[in-house]
Amino acid sequence: MDQQTALKKKAGEFAADLVESGMRVGLGTGSTAIWAVRRIGEKLKSGELTDIVAIPTSIRTTEEAESLGIPLASFDELKELDITIDGADEVDGRLNVIKGGGGALLREKIVAQITKRLVIIVDPSKQVNLLGETWAVPIEVVHFGWESQKHFLESLGATVEMRLGEDGEPFFTDGGNLILDANFGRIYNILALETKLQQRAGIVESGLFFEMASDLIVASPDGMQHIQGRIA
Ligand code: A5P
Repeated sequence: MDQQTALKKKAGEFAADLVESGMRVGLGTGSTAIWAVRRIGEKLKSGELTDIVAIPTSIRTTEEAESLGIPLASFDELKELDITIDGADEVDGRLNVIKGGGGALLREKIVAQITKRLVIIVDPSKQVNLLGETWAVPIEVVHFGWESQKHFLESLGATVEMRLGEDGEPFFTDGGNLILDANFGRIYNILALETKLQQRAGIVESGLFFEMASDLIVASPDGMQHIQGRIA
């Protein structure tokens, strides 16, 4: 296992230990969150954790959770989640986040917004001063008229690329939509940008998670850092 993967594993396992028996849990997506899912599965199996139910944020995570025997619930059954553990592509000092590198931003945000405690887990490569420094903002758009969303994002100053899959064909999300990766450079006013994106028909969701996270866990070669902010 390379060093970055080992750090992701540490962050995921540390976060999984915040889950207590009886909790309703959101399961994130990606190469960091997967370690939290696996640890939760192990703790259920050993009996260290009991009586939890979970909502996964992607088809991939659903499959993993099912294979580990983690009990899943629907939104009909759960109005609120106690904790969600998820990764990030970038996180700033105020715990604002860019997500969606794996294409699961819409489901991740739906789960995040019913979560009391959103725990973001990263290795140090994800920490930035200002969002947009190293990563484009993934924007999920409907297929119909997607080019007009590209023009709109360009009018806001972004350089835009349609996300492609490994096969070189357009990447489709779990919701059957496209992703435009919009590089705005450093984002000085996240809320202003997010507001413009939310108002645009055809844009389903953006990967900007503004003031949603309550905890940040960073696993670095020097040790574990756990920053706690707001809890909804
Ligand atoms: C999934 O769409 C994403 O939001 C991931 O949580 C994010 O891209 C971080 O992924 P990694 O942990 O794989 O870097």
